[in-house]
Amino acid sequence: MEEIKSIQDYESRIKRVIVTEDQIKEEIKKAGKWIDGIYDGKPILLVSILKGAFVFMADLCRAVSVPCEIGFMCAKSYYQGTVSTGIVNITMDLEQDVSSYHIVIVEDIVDTGRTLNDVVKLLKARKPLSLHVVTLLDKPSRRVVEFKPDYSLFTIPDYFVIGYGLDCGEYYRNLPYIAEYNA
Ligand code: IMP
Ligand code: MG
Repeated sequence: MEEIKSIQDYESRIKRVIVTEDQIKEEIKKAGKWIDGIYDGKPILLVSILKGAFVFMADLCRAVSVPCEIGFMCAKSYYQGTVSTGIVNITMDLEQDVSSYHIVIVEDIVDTGRTLNDVVKLLKARKPLSLHVVTLLDKPSRRVVEFKPDYSLFTIPDYFVIGYGLDCGEYYRNLPYIAEYNA
């Protein structure tokens, strides 16, 4: 990515809006209700993978009506070339003991599927009551590792997207909508 040197340059890289703020709001209401349905008297722990999912988490947790806690983790997956070594490095771990919760992983996007595949394996080994994955975006055409989220708000083609938590070179996370990036 070329360095951004002006506001004009910054703005010109926002190619077109793919998902509007209103569309996101509508779909988040439905996703919140879906999460409500997981509750069976035991608490839910919403787990957001930083940084990309922080905006989605903030809105999604407010659409959930059942008792739930919020947790964050930072995970980095390691690869030899394009092959996952199966090693996930947790740079910031959850503080909760997941064995007494229904876990709902809140992710920004499933692309190759490697990150979530690794994180799910790791959390399942800690024996949560149940584990579900909710993703804001899914790019199924890019999958390298077989992975199917339990709930996806939007399925998109193979575009590089920015906004609503997703970045390019750490910029654009604060856009209120999701846009295609103009490389
Ligand atoms: P994975 O390839 O499924 O492991 O996705 C890893 C991470 O890459 C995601 O959690 C995102 O943070 C990032 N990513 C994948 N596609 C995009 C995109 O289109 N825009 C911004 N970040 C992306
Ligand atoms: Mg991410």
